[in-house]
Amino acid sequence: MALILGLESSCDETAAALVTSDRRILAHRLAGQEAAHRPYGGVVPEIAARAHVEALMPLIEGALGDAGVSLAEVDAIAATAGPGLIGGVMVGLVTGKALAHAAGKPLVAVNHLEGHALSPRLTDPDLDFPYLLLLVSGGHCQLLLVEGVGAYRRLATTIDDAAGEAFDKTAKLLGLGFPGGPAVERAALAGNPNAVPLPRPLKGSAEPHFSFAGLKSAVSRARDAGTWRAEDIAASFQAAVVDCLLDRTIRALDRAQGATALVVAGGVAANQAVRLALEGLATANGLRFVAPPLWLCTDNAAMIAWAGAERFAAGFTDPLDIAARPRWPL
Ligand code: KG4
Ligand code: ZN
Repeated sequence: MALILGLESSCDETAAALVTSDRRILAHRLAGQEAAHRPYGGVVPEIAARAHVEALMPLIEGALGDAGVSLAEVDAIAATAGPGLIGGVMVGLVTGKALAHAAGKPLVAVNHLEGHALSPRLTDPDLDFPYLLLLVSGGHCQLLLVEGVGAYRRLATTIDDAAGEAFDKTAKLLGLGFPGGPAVERAALAGNPNAVPLPRPLKGSAEPHFSFAGLKSAVSRARDAGTWRAEDIAASFQAAVVDCLLDRTIRALDRAQGATALVVAGGVAANQAVRLALEGLATANGLRFVAPPLWLCTDNAAMIAWAGAERFAAGFTDPLDIAARPRWPL
């Protein structure tokens, strides 16, 4: 059994967690920065980096306290090394390196996407490789065949915006507030998903790729038309996104030989309409459906600690001069 300290700081959540290789979450602490970014309607990288600097050490100390362990009892330190806003990534990675050096512990540099990709295995011990993963977050929208730790076959990606980005832009266009995903989901509950005719970009195309830029423009035109309530536009937008995600995932199923589960992860996986639609698809295809609990879908450090535990168990550790990477495909 190994005990891993995980650190996350790649976007606008600062987080520290302690997770064991036998799937016990001993502590997970998180400090969001919504209030700092809200006046700007989006994440401001410089403000994010400064907030990570202030928040991270107290979170680490708090997590160690919650778990009742000292740094000396930790087996490895896992930190997000990218992709993300580089100033923020550097804060978490440099802190991880410093702690690893000071305590004489190995460092595991974790790809944030790998954190999302492996997170469903933290809470579901029966989820074996390979599985088909729909990874939907603010920066990424991909279909991956997860074949093992460090073995990810990308079947599809977005040719423009990510799904979460489309939620955030729609929220901004409709004046629903920040962060956008949960705001659109809330508004959609009071709207008619069939009210506004919106496009389903790339639906039916042979390759399972995604596109959301045209949908965002259509939302903008629908708002400018002044015909519909924001709730109806939100509900129609969400229905269009779900439709696209489903159609593209169906297309990828043919290429996911051997997969026994359909898995969804990343911030947009917190959306109930997305979860319900994918669950139906999995059931119809005789696949298990696995989605992490909501708190594990959006950015957190437990998923980084868990990916660190999986990598550490597989024998992967990293040198202390490893660089932070703003872009880092899986
Ligand atoms: O994984 P995540 O926390 O950060 C990234 O790695 O990007 O994902 C954040 C994204 C944001 O775009 C946010 O609007 C979206 O996930 N999101 C949601 C919901 N909760 C978060 N989108 C739709 N419905 C939600 N309930
Ligand atoms: Zn993320």
